[in-house]
Amino acid sequence: MTRHWLAGDVAAAAAALTAGGLVAFPTETVYGLGADALSDRAIAALYAAKGRPSFNPLILHVADLAAAAALADLPEAALRLADAFWPGPLTLVAPLRAGTGVSSLALAGLPTVALRVPAHPLAQALLRAVGGPVAAPSANRSGKISPTRAAHVLVGLAGRIAGVIDGGACPVGVESTIIGFDPRGAVLLRPGGLAPEPIEALLGDRLHPAEAGAITAPGQLTSHYAPRAALRMNAAQVEPGEVLLGFGPVANATFNLSPTGDAEEAAANLFAALHMLDGQAARIAVSPIPDTGLGRAINDRLRRAAAPRPAGEGT
Ligand code: TXA
Ligand code: MG
Repeated sequence: MTRHWLAGDVAAAAAALTAGGLVAFPTETVYGLGADALSDRAIAALYAAKGRPSFNPLILHVADLAAAAALADLPEAALRLADAFWPGPLTLVAPLRAGTGVSSLALAGLPTVALRVPAHPLAQALLRAVGGPVAAPSANRSGKISPTRAAHVLVGLAGRIAGVIDGGACPVGVESTIIGFDPRGAVLLRPGGLAPEPIEALLGDRLHPAEAGAITAPGQLTSHYAPRAALRMNAAQVEPGEVLLGFGPVANATFNLSPTGDAEEAAANLFAALHMLDGQAARIAVSPIPDTGLGRAINDRLRRAAAPRPAGEGT
């Protein structure tokens, strides 16, 4: 049976996770599907529940910087970013320390580890109750739309997981920004819920693009976050048979991500809007969204949702 825990039940959810169970929980970005990062069996069950290709490494969630620094050798630039932006929607990739006991299945055999300290109070409460690293990809079946409500989690995963902690809607709404480090400096592996501009301002340097062919971040599988409906970006007008996912002051939107053109509001609404419109139409047109601030992450997710699907996927 899949449990639906409320905010007061975090201790029960933590016990289920510590016993090897899969527990979905809210973060400020999206709901994560948590598993004990020290347990190969729990991680194997996590990949199976998501239907995820096991070569895709997971983000480990910890309660604070001290716990992160115990797992990875964080370079100086990572420490500065952590200091400024943790807890928050930022993931840092750095070399794994020896002897941590982290499941190599969770890391897909890589010598590096992706670490995040989420700010959401229920995520913090869960991590403190568990006391060790929690591996947590977004709590959706692989390739499907990410969940920003407990109900989205249950649509995809009921019967496959121990339960979900219900924290209502996720305030940021798109996954964390992932930053790695190479000899050039900081590398943007995935645009996400922390806009690139404040990161560049803090570092006093631009974020470098990920090298083609390197181990980059998410949904490197080009088709990802895929609704069943076909999606057309930068739509100046609506064609027959389409519904409009609007942005800014446009007429005839079936749903408007932000009538005032605010990218933060749009990010918070994005996945819930895709979940909703997906049930209503075969074709979704999306208004143009400026590619700055959180617009970077929104356009990245829309591009993947619009990408042609391999046969058998996205259906
Ligand atoms: O906001 C988020 O980041 C959410 C919430 C639940 O925290 N989590 C999330 O996890 O989006 P997931 O598994 O869907 O995305 C993790 C991405 C993977 O696609 C992977 O490519 C990248 O992080 N990643 C993990 N370890 C990495 C590593 N060592 N090097 C490069 N990328 C890595
Ligand atoms: Mg995901």
